[in-house]
Amino acid sequence: MAFPFDPSAYGRSIADIYDGTVDDLPTEATVEQLHLLAGDGPVLEFGIGTGRLALPLAARGVTVAGVDGSPDMVKVLRSKPGGERLQVVVGDFATTRVDGEFSLVALTTNTIFALPSQDAQVRCFRNAAAHLRPGGRFVVEAWVPDPAAFYRGSALRLLALGEDVVVAEAARISPAEQHMTTTKVRLTAQGVRLLPANHRYAWPAELDLMARLAGMEREHRWADWHRAPFGDDSRAHVTVYRLPPD
Ligand SMILES: C[S@@+](CC[C@H](N)C(=O)[O-])C[C@H]1O[C@@H](n2cnc3c(N)ncnc32)[C@H](O)[C@@H]1O
Repeated sequence: MAFPFDPSAYGRSIADIYDGTVDDLPTEATVEQLHLLAGDGPVLEFGIGTGRLALPLAARGVTVAGVDGSPDMVKVLRSKPGGERLQVVVGDFATTRVDGEFSLVALTTNTIFALPSQDAQVRCFRNAAAHLRPGGRFVVEAWVPDPAAFYRGSALRLLALGEDVVVAEAARISPAEQHMTTTKVRLTAQGVRLLPANHRYAWPAELDLMARLAGMEREHRWADWHRAPFGDDSRAHVTVYRLPPD
């Protein structure tokens, strides 16, 4: 069963403050690895958002295109230096096609889980493979599900505590459906913002199987963007899938 799905919803609630919420993410290390994986490119980013990764990658001389479901996020991207030059298509990355053949398709920041069902995620893997040239790569960054972190299906976590910002997250899971609904509550001097999101989560092995269905094999799995080894205690993964060279 899928949850109600609107690919523009996430951006509608967060686009104006998104860039202020990602200070903790390892942007430089991510861009470095994307560049290494892509070689000369070109790169297609599913869920390109406000260009956090795409713009620094393009500044390194790599051609970058993107798909995003949110006109609000794309508007922020377009307002930045270099943002007008990127080819960006507004649509659902499970099905939207972009002209060209790419050396790398990237889907970072847990965004594979924004797709509402296993079917949609399988379609996304197939769509990534369809954009790759022989030997091309699809890199996915996602958290590892941890149902033990929930008490009777619910969890309340403090994500950030500073003098000018506090972020807490309320979450509920349905283990039967592999769904998690969350709302982050962000408190700043500007007021309170509620940032809701739905996730259809999957363990790494299920994603590996989706890659196989799409004709790709796993090449690497790391615990982070610094290529730390993935192991029993890893709470996230960066996985690289590859199409056969021909
Ligand atoms: C967490 S943000 C990540 C943005 C960017 N990749 C980054 O790392 O900063 C997720 C992005 O994916 C987009 N998105 C979510 N689901 C989508 C879908 N099914 N199709 C297209 N875009 C989607 C959202 O609009 C948002 O811009």
